[in-house]
Amino acid sequence: MSAPNSTVNTDSTDLDRLHAAVRREKADLEPGREPVPMWIMFVFMLIAIIAGGQLGPMAGGWSFDVSNPWSLALQGDPRPGGDGGAGALDPFQTAMKKGASGYAVCGGCHQGSGMGIPGQYPPLAKSEWVTGGTERLIRVVQHGLVGQINVAGQNYNFPGGMQPFGAAMSAGDLANVLTYIRNSWGNQGTMITKEMVEKVRADESSRAAQWTQADLEKFAEANVPGEIPAGPGATAAAPAEAK
Ligand code: HEC
Repeated sequence: MSAPNSTVNTDSTDLDRLHAAVRREKADLEPGREPVPMWIMFVFMLIAIIAGGQLGPMAGGWSFDVSNPWSLALQGDPRPGGDGGAGALDPFQTAMKKGASGYAVCGGCHQGSGMGIPGQYPPLAKSEWVTGGTERLIRVVQHGLVGQINVAGQNYNFPGGMQPFGAAMSAGDLANVLTYIRNSWGNQGTMITKEMVEKVRADESSRAAQWTQADLEKFAEANVPGEIPAGPGATAAAPAEAK
């Protein structure tokens, strides 16, 4: 409004400026408590990242390589079910893993426990059909089985028997499922490979009918060549491919 007022205003503005300047001042830092320079923080971060990359593969099988498609192509995919490299499941473990999921097809009748259903579906657990000759086992699942059979001292004769699974499953899938049932529920047997299933398929290519127990008697103890001892040491063959 008038000149005197503007003089007062100028004074108060100067005072504000003075206070602002004082507020900006920081207390002197005690020696040893200065903020860490930014570049040192970066150096530490870099060390942490590099150290993590070194420790990861040792501790948990984690590695930078897993996400690097170039290194996967060069060294083999080390992830479970991959085709090799550090930390990969061996062929036996891979077959068991794939076989366990393939077993869903069988579990409706033979049950997840492998115990079957008394009087209807025979057990696969502790069955001589499962752990015995691989020539017989592969044939049973490939072409099916009908008529009265004896499993672990018990008779079974389900109407219509077991249907063939050969047409529905790839040789690799079948091999994995059979390796799985031969090494589950206390069973112990050799691995069955895709090549073994293919061999039996070729030998029986003209067959259409389900097998009977009598037909298969001659194969009860016979093994298809090429079997591999089961267990973590089973590294002789590539794992059967499941699709
Ligand atoms: C629809 C029910 C059903 C399904 C699914 C089925 N089975 Fe069977 N399976 C039977 C029956 C029934 C028999 C007994 C046949 C007979 O009485 O002649 C049998 C017998 C067997 C035998 C021989 C006897 C024994 O207990 O060891 C084997 C081995 C076998 N099945 C494995 C399999 C596998 C592996 C699968 C999955 C790929 C499968 N089965 C799926 C019903 C089934």
